[in-house]
Amino acid sequence: MAGKRVFVCSACGAQAAKWAGQCGECLAWNTLEESLVAVAPARGGKRRAVGYAGETAVGARRLSEVSAEPVQRQPTGLGELDRVLGGGLVSGSVVLIGGDPGIGKSTLLIQMLARLAGEHKSLYVTGEESAEQISLRARRLELQLDSLHVLTETSVERILQQAGVERPRIMVVDSIQTIHSEALQSAPGAVAQIRESAAQLVRFAKQSGTSIFLVGHVTKEGSLAGPRVLEHMVDTVLYFEGDRGNQYRLIRAIKNRFGAVNELGIFAMTDKGLRAVANPSAIFLSGHREAAPGSVILVTREGSRPLLVEVQALVDDSPLGNPRRVALGLEQNRLAMLLAVLHRHGGVPMYDQDVYVNVVGGVRIAETASDLAMIAAILSSHRDRPLSRKLVVFGEIGLAGEIRPVQNGQERLREAAKHGFETAVVPLQNAPKKGVRGLRIVPVARLGDAIEAFFSEA
Ligand code: TYD
Ligand code: MG
Repeated sequence: MAGKRVFVCSACGAQAAKWAGQCGECLAWNTLEESLVAVAPARGGKRRAVGYAGETAVGARRLSEVSAEPVQRQPTGLGELDRVLGGGLVSGSVVLIGGDPGIGKSTLLIQMLARLAGEHKSLYVTGEESAEQISLRARRLELQLDSLHVLTETSVERILQQAGVERPRIMVVDSIQTIHSEALQSAPGAVAQIRESAAQLVRFAKQSGTSIFLVGHVTKEGSLAGPRVLEHMVDTVLYFEGDRGNQYRLIRAIKNRFGAVNELGIFAMTDKGLRAVANPSAIFLSGHREAAPGSVILVTREGSRPLLVEVQALVDDSPLGNPRRVALGLEQNRLAMLLAVLHRHGGVPMYDQDVYVNVVGGVRIAETASDLAMIAAILSSHRDRPLSRKLVVFGEIGLAGEIRPVQNGQERLREAAKHGFETAVVPLQNAPKKGVRGLRIVPVARLGDAIEAFFSEA
């Protein structure tokens, strides 16, 4: 595509030929970003009516006339990765994989390439590490080196030129933040560079059928560095989660055009790289410990499997006029909301208390079934009374103080029973009529009932 370099205001969309601190149209400051625009060849002064998408207009078709062959999926050799991808890698798809530095992105991808390299041509493009470092790591992981191809290059044009010659079936670009386009003058890592490089790679993937993995860095706040638009451009977005102090790593799909989202893949980092964890439900439990105030076990259901995790809370007198509310692995706004519900419907004021909640093991819980666990941990810390180590909880709390049911209650209860838990405080509608063997189920309908139930089990 012939491209012209312009500066586009991110607030009003106005274009300027030169960069300036202030947009000449809407007068916003620091909004001009470098960008490439397509220049369509002018014909007789008339603009062509065909849109950006193609040279050949196809016209609208009946959906029934569009052939819908099931997508071909290629197993990656790593079962847990296939699971998050929705059953394997789709050819021509672009997968963005984000996560903290050192969490294992490069390790995972080199392992995957090595497993696939026997059957398919693959290419590992690195802008971060040297070929020697990659080779060293691959040797340490005892991978098959013969069929692994590595390219150290940061110019997207040259990467694509090389890829055009090599024609790999699978290509890894580690990382997109180090790649730049020669058509732009801004530094690698700048928003315009990331966007343009990714756009060229996506176009190549769609045209050639090559599957591309893009590694993306995350910012301190935990979202992918660079433009959000990157997430819109790719087919699948995966996030690596986990504590570096803990050996377990989770991969979560947060967008997937070819499969379900919120599926989890679970790995353990070993001295031989990442190993899939086949039966992960209890890996985040800390074994036999003394019951301590502020801790409770939640049965969550991330992806298609139940997972037992420990939710912890610390409540302490606040020296601040505006007490702190900190949630790690849980949603901050949800915490604030639950504290309000706890005050209004449970009669427990927290306006002079700092409240911290955390999920052990670096897991992030997105579902509302964690509400009841958060409240249980907070109350336990506030009252300095430990809850039973044999207790599990799950359930959503509504603004009216009602306890609402969550999905797959039975399955969660069976999993808890399997791991030796003895009591479960759960929403009334989730209590099975027949019960669950080995588990005493305490159904609760209101916040008040729940509070009573937590401490009568202690
Ligand atoms: P890496 O894949 O380089 O992370 P990223 O690409 O996400 O930045 O992960 C490297 C980390 O994993 C490093 O801290 C060492 C550890 N590690 C192991 O524990 N075992 C191994 O076999 C390998 C290769 C790495
Ligand atoms: Mg890396």
